[in-house]
Amino acid sequence: MEKRKSSVIFRRIFWILLYAAGCVAAGRIEGLPAVTADIRQAPCVALTFDDGPDRKYTPQLLDGLKERGVKASFFVIGKNISGNEELLVRMKEEGHLIGNHTYSHVQLNKISSEKAREEVEKTSNEIFEVTGVYPSYIRPPFGAWPKQLDLAVTMFLVMWDIDTLDWKSKSISSIVQIVETEVKDGSIILMHDEYATSVEAALKIVDILREQGFRFVTVDEMLVV
Ligand code: NI
Repeated sequence: MEKRKSSVIFRRIFWILLYAAGCVAAGRIEGLPAVTADIRQAPCVALTFDDGPDRKYTPQLLDGLKERGVKASFFVIGKNISGNEELLVRMKEEGHLIGNHTYSHVQLNKISSEKAREEVEKTSNEIFEVTGVYPSYIRPPFGAWPKQLDLAVTMFLVMWDIDTLDWKSKSISSIVQIVETEVKDGSIILMHDEYATSVEAALKIVDILREQGFRFVTVDEMLVV
């Protein structure tokens, strides 16, 4: 009961800060009411990458983001961390947000609560061991979050409003076109840092949207813009 209460309070504080800052996440952050007011000056957008880190493509993406001075959010799979620790350290050092995407990319509402909790905690613990920071944000695979986990896991769920389908199309032009068509202030863009096409498309998106006046933020930065 205590955990439930603190989770609700935590979320309420988060919502208040978010609202006060005037940053509106168009992608869904679970537990927050839909807010449409926008009092911020520059439109913001968050690039999010799931399923990494990837030994080959994540470094290329990090290079491109660094060149452009852009920060993104990475929802990593726990079992991909081993052997790629330096990539997580680099993400942290270069100002990116590292979130949890479960240990073995399971659909959390299809396994027992106990197992689901393990999937989340094991990943958070590994992220902490490598980076010294315990993640506060989670993107559950397939966007599936069993409500009963709210009692055990006090993390913010980060969904998305733009699904680039990058894993499916593997087409730079299609990915870019989806984003250009759907982007709005506060958009949270879903991509995967495990394909060459996704890396190239993401960097192209940065160049195009910046030209249009968008500012790239990490999902937690949406609190303080
Ligand atoms: Ni995934």
